[in-house]
Amino acid sequence: MATPDIQLDAHGRLRHFLAIEGLPRALLIQILDQAERFAPVGDRAVKKVPLLRGKTVANLFFEPSTRTRTTFDLAAKRLSADVLNLNIEASSTKKGESLADTLRNLEAMQCDMFVVRHQVSGAADYIARQVAPHISVINGGDGRHEHPTQAMLDAFTIRRLKKSFDALRIAIVGDVAHSRVARSNIQALRTLGVPDLRVVGPKTLIPPGIEAMGVTVHDDLDEGISGADVVIMLRLQQERMQSALLPSAHEYFREYGLTAERLRGAAKDAIVMHPGPINRGVEIDSEVADGTQSVILQQVTYGIAVRMAVMSMAMGTQAQTGAA
Ligand code: NCD
Repeated sequence: MATPDIQLDAHGRLRHFLAIEGLPRALLIQILDQAERFAPVGDRAVKKVPLLRGKTVANLFFEPSTRTRTTFDLAAKRLSADVLNLNIEASSTKKGESLADTLRNLEAMQCDMFVVRHQVSGAADYIARQVAPHISVINGGDGRHEHPTQAMLDAFTIRRLKKSFDALRIAIVGDVAHSRVARSNIQALRTLGVPDLRVVGPKTLIPPGIEAMGVTVHDDLDEGISGADVVIMLRLQQERMQSALLPSAHEYFREYGLTAERLRGAAKDAIVMHPGPINRGVEIDSEVADGTQSVILQQVTYGIAVRMAVMSMAMGTQAQTGAA
């Protein structure tokens, strides 16, 4: 599992971004503030700043991904980096090359940063411990462990729309047991000072002892989202389930699917979030996913600015006001 000590350099600056766990509040705020400076770049006619010019970023995705891979790709390109998108499925690992040898070769190509997504928990941390000292590793999601840039883009979305974390009621609903997003979000939102954080789902999909992370547990959806300012829905990760933990998708929707009617139990101005990909009619009704309270597509847009912030901080090239 990621031990956060290797994430920061001797001056407390970000070197790798592997996990939210253990990171100080001030650093999380710094990421959000940096992302605020990068957000306007996406609205310009020329969506580019020169902060990573001459740097080479390799996207190493060992597990399928659309949003995360493409927004990391866009973030690096908007920072003017050169980007390698490795199609691992078709590459040498399939010919028996070890991960260590793949990394050595990318180092020999003088890459400066690896963005890693891997199905094994702890993979990004393992890679960060192998690489040459000038290389930064960013975790794009490792197994069920953490997905730290997703948590920061979620926190960014919440701060933009709710202004502060101080008085919020936030419910994270669904398959918490298999979700690295839930784990990173709980760490981030607790560190940022959210006072009322709830996880909601069937007992089979809530890890035992999760209360120790500073959340309350609810197995009733209406009770769990009652009065919530933010409702974060999670995808049912059937591909990670070893055995049948649920009766059926239909049954799940009846108990835990977010419909417009059930959303009325949350605060009037509640926002609905989802990291994607969404399963319409399984965890969320289309009427809610496409409705006025949904901010799911804003999360995608903000993800680019947040990833620009993390990448530039790890390379020690931060934005000034307006990312000029
Ligand atoms: C999440 C992931 O891959 O962990 N999605 C994402 O990064 N946008 C959540 C999921 O797959 O359900």
